[in-house]
Amino acid sequence: MENKMKKKLIAGNWKLNPTTKTEAIKLAENIKNNTKNFNFEVALCVPSIYLDTINEIIKDSPIKLGAQNCYFEEKGAFTGEISAQMLKDLNCKYVILGHSERRSLFAETDEIINHKIKIAMKNTLIPILCVGESEEQRNKNITDSIIEAQLTADLKDISIDGNNLVIAYEPIWAIGTGKTCSSEEADRVCGLIRNKIAQLYSKDIASKITIQYGGSVKSSTIKEQMKMENIDGALVGGASLIAEEFNLLLQNANN
Ligand code: 13P
Repeated sequence: MENKMKKKLIAGNWKLNPTTKTEAIKLAENIKNNTKNFNFEVALCVPSIYLDTINEIIKDSPIKLGAQNCYFEEKGAFTGEISAQMLKDLNCKYVILGHSERRSLFAETDEIINHKIKIAMKNTLIPILCVGESEEQRNKNITDSIIEAQLTADLKDISIDGNNLVIAYEPIWAIGTGKTCSSEEADRVCGLIRNKIAQLYSKDIASKITIQYGGSVKSSTIKEQMKMENIDGALVGGASLIAEEFNLLLQNANN
């Protein structure tokens, strides 16, 4: 499929790290000082409690701000939750939704994720929708049908234009394990996602949508991954927590 129109994005997903605001500031400043106008966009998806602080650090840089979750209601008696509007108000561009850790550890269903995508889009946030199969599902050879079913359910009754949604293919068995999915296989599944988007929407939208790979991405793997036809960037966990490693990863991706 046409490759020219796709926007590339490398996003760091800090998850529940680092443990103090001081460390978060140091990490963001270090990344900011090394981030130039690369031929892809860079985003930092940080814990909600650090969003405001990190926004102050990166607001005059090319780095975009992202959150890692939001609730599906706009406001009200939902103790402990954070709304899409609150994220927008703090200058977030992206919000990760449907991460496998949210699906498995916090019992988020496709229906919940679908509601969250809708509310995020209503507030003009760009969801980074994560899909991926478990090791057991891969061993049963049902990877493709699992991914297609997730996409169909998560995007039910949602209109996309190719720019208002990012999809991240994150095979669960490759997250935090050091087991990177081969670039060829990651590219194959990202291609499958693109074809499913073409089927659900249109070829034109499928040719524009950004599809990332995530799962043990490192400075040593990124170059090859970025060369693949259907991989438009990466969602990076562990390697985004070490400034030197993430800076090197960004440099290698740019070369
Ligand atoms: P790791 O890069 O630590 O494997 O995490 C990937 C991930 O879950 C990003 O969202």
